[in-house]
Amino acid sequence: MPFSPTLGRGATLAALETPAALVDLDRLDRNITRMATYANAHSLALRPHIKTHKATTIAAAQLAHGAAGLTCATPAEAAVMSGVTNDILLAYPPVGPKLARLMALPPSVRLTVALDSERAIEGLAAAARAAGRAVRVYVELDVGMHRVGVTAWDEAIRLVELVRQRPPLEYAGIAFYPGHIRDAVGSQDAKLAALREALGSALTALDRAGLRPPVVSGGSTPTMMRTHEVTGVTEFRPGTYVYNDRGTAEIGACAWDDCAFTVLATVVSTSVPNQAVIDAGAKALGREPARGFDGEGFGALLDRRDVVVKGMSEEHGILDLSKTTWRPSVGDLVRVVPNHVCIVVHLNDVIYGVRGETLEKSWAVDARGRAQAAVLA
Ligand SMILES: Cc1ncc(COP(=O)(O)O)c(C=O)c1O
Repeated sequence: MPFSPTLGRGATLAALETPAALVDLDRLDRNITRMATYANAHSLALRPHIKTHKATTIAAAQLAHGAAGLTCATPAEAAVMSGVTNDILLAYPPVGPKLARLMALPPSVRLTVALDSERAIEGLAAAARAAGRAVRVYVELDVGMHRVGVTAWDEAIRLVELVRQRPPLEYAGIAFYPGHIRDAVGSQDAKLAALREALGSALTALDRAGLRPPVVSGGSTPTMMRTHEVTGVTEFRPGTYVYNDRGTAEIGACAWDDCAFTVLATVVSTSVPNQAVIDAGAKALGREPARGFDGEGFGALLDRRDVVVKGMSEEHGILDLSKTTWRPSVGDLVRVVPNHVCIVVHLNDVIYGVRGETLEKSWAVDARGRAQAAVLA
């Protein structure tokens, strides 16, 4: 997407109307390369979840660095991402009208779907039959998060057998998401051990039934560098790692200077003592609480980690200056690292790529928004 006529490449941050979403391109490259290197070192297939960046530009960079395919949460995301890959996992059970959009993906897309119910299998099988397309299925297991996934392995076996009886569905493997592990990286041992055990018992049961899964798909950003410790995993799906955020840094899953994404904001008021107000509120920063770490606020300043956004209205963010001697002036620019980046990205149409203070490029968040299944006449 071109810059507007008044904003040329090479412009500095001061030229941007705020709030604006920035990505530090050097950090982005580093994050993508680090994960690709880790995947290679441990012979794991990397299938990044695109829910973090929702941008074909970034997905293409992940694929260029060896990602085996992409993970999406919605058929609408999958439709956009089919422009850059032929290998898509929908890591979310498609039920109802979503199925039509899914079946409309280009036939060249090797589609895999994760699900956990007979109803979802029957719906998908009927849609796949009608569309004449093969669909690979991962049966989702609950190994501790308690969100989706079957909790009893004989039920997993029953679902796998059902998939095998419903061509053109194909049994492709099992999936799980360790989203319950958000502890500091050094304190994850007990939960990882429990996860290893749960997954191990599921794999033993499937093995005994002669249903060894070709793929075991797991992974998350908080556990990203420990994925190889979960015996049996063959594929992992981190999403947040590409940009990282305050939560990821606070638990030590990345360094603070691996946070690539910030919201550029302008100080618009300093009239109340011990605080400064910026033009980025909940509509620019989201309202995600601190997760997995003891911290206040909704984000922290990139170059002053002790200054947090302690409160927000829709368009106002309130910086807490009680722990710093720094006193900004009206008109100063600040960069906020949000608590949880994925929600914030989703609030933006365009992201600006920067090196230092210089704007180098911009790209569309082209898979954002809620696509409608139909337009009413
Ligand atoms: C099913 C699934 N897989 C992978 C991910 C990626 O996890 P993370 O954001 O920790 O990288 C998510 C995140 O919500 C998810 O729901």
